[in-house]
Amino acid sequence: MKKVQLTETVLRDANQSLMATRLPYKDYEGILADMDKAGYYSVECWGGATFDSCLRYLNEDPWERLRNLRKNLPNTRLQMLLRGQNLLGYKHYHDDVVEKFIELSIKNGIDVIRIFDALNDFRNIETALKATKQYANERTIASGCISYTQSPVHTVEKYIEMCKELKRMGFDTICLKDMAGTMSPYEAEHLIKGIKDAIGDMTLILHTHCTTGMAYMTLTKAIESGIDVIDTATSCFSGGTSQPSTETMFYAFKQYGIDCGLDEDIINKVNDFFKPVKQKYIDNGQLNPKSLATDAQALVYKVPGGMLSNMIANLTDMHAMDKFDAALAEIPKVRADLGYPPLVTPLSQMVGNQAVTNVLVGERYKNISKEVKNYIKGEYGIAPAPIDTELSAKVLGDAQPVDCRDEDKKRTGEEFITAKEALGDLCRSEEDIMSYICYPDQTLKFLKDRKAQEENEAVYTIEEM
Ligand code: CO
Repeated sequence: MKKVQLTETVLRDANQSLMATRLPYKDYEGILADMDKAGYYSVECWGGATFDSCLRYLNEDPWERLRNLRKNLPNTRLQMLLRGQNLLGYKHYHDDVVEKFIELSIKNGIDVIRIFDALNDFRNIETALKATKQYANERTIASGCISYTQSPVHTVEKYIEMCKELKRMGFDTICLKDMAGTMSPYEAEHLIKGIKDAIGDMTLILHTHCTTGMAYMTLTKAIESGIDVIDTATSCFSGGTSQPSTETMFYAFKQYGIDCGLDEDIINKVNDFFKPVKQKYIDNGQLNPKSLATDAQALVYKVPGGMLSNMIANLTDMHAMDKFDAALAEIPKVRADLGYPPLVTPLSQMVGNQAVTNVLVGERYKNISKEVKNYIKGEYGIAPAPIDTELSAKVLGDAQPVDCRDEDKKRTGEEFITAKEALGDLCRSEEDIMSYICYPDQTLKFLKDRKAQEENEAVYTIEEM
């Protein structure tokens, strides 16, 4: 029997896409023991925006969350999403920082590390790959991930070449990451057949979003074309800017005669558990019903779900929602000027913010963000196509673009020293240091709160005795 396996995304991408990653660990702890028996290929539960959200909004230690997930999902592969040399942030870190982060991720319980670079500049995922191999245990899987996008320079042939390169580099699996949900059934068929021919029996994974309404058709073609693993979300957290539904695919697979290894009762139980959780966040406004709808406009603008909901949130904060359509229309123009970067973190934020700025200021590139300037200087890697010469000249002046690897290769250890000094006695572990390196302000606040809370508890306990 043909086999296709499923990765459940409710704990990471579905939560990130629909409700800006505000799902606290306590809200789903009660279902983990069941999820552990569901038969998923993996559970995507960490990385992406979860780390930042834990520290910034949820007063949770992301490492403690990971250890709890490990404890409660002992038989399930735990999967994270890693932004290559950017780790979970928005800028490049030195190689020694990347290596330490991966060492700690595996040590605290991660099995599958899905590694991508926003520009598909694979020099930016090489250090993460090597570290994954170095610290691997028998469960570890290094998944090389391609940021899928459409542009005049992103052809089927180019994607096949990228996959060959990922295989040559030594990745265990390959994932096509269609973050905007713009991959059509036709494209899926040509891509996947071509890639499978080129990489042989290496596991190929498709990650897509329902944003444009294309996902189920695309998955159908992907399955017929030989995909091995697909990403889905429990049905009440599926659709809209999230993934297609786990149970729906399960029933479709049954009639296809495909074994996906899932336990029907358990996946339904998982969904029953999450229904009231979802309702709670609809009621308190954190889950905007807008993100649950289908928006075919993304086929024009190529805007991923998370980017769309962030833009809505930013414009709402600035009382400028009337500029929404204009900002959306500016995005593809900015993207073309920047050499067609795929719209994935951090490029999605950079392109999105620059488009919003261009519209709000009323003059294109009058204000250019520091990040976009750095991108044009080459600090993020090589753009898929040449950057607009006028814009490039405006930022570079007489200077030459830089090679990002020159800086990344410096192993000075300075981040670790700075973090130790800044944290002082608040620091108790290497994980605390790594949190600080990734998100200094949020971590400092979190660790101060942790200390204050413990001191209060200590006083309370003594009085009670
Ligand atoms: Co995604």
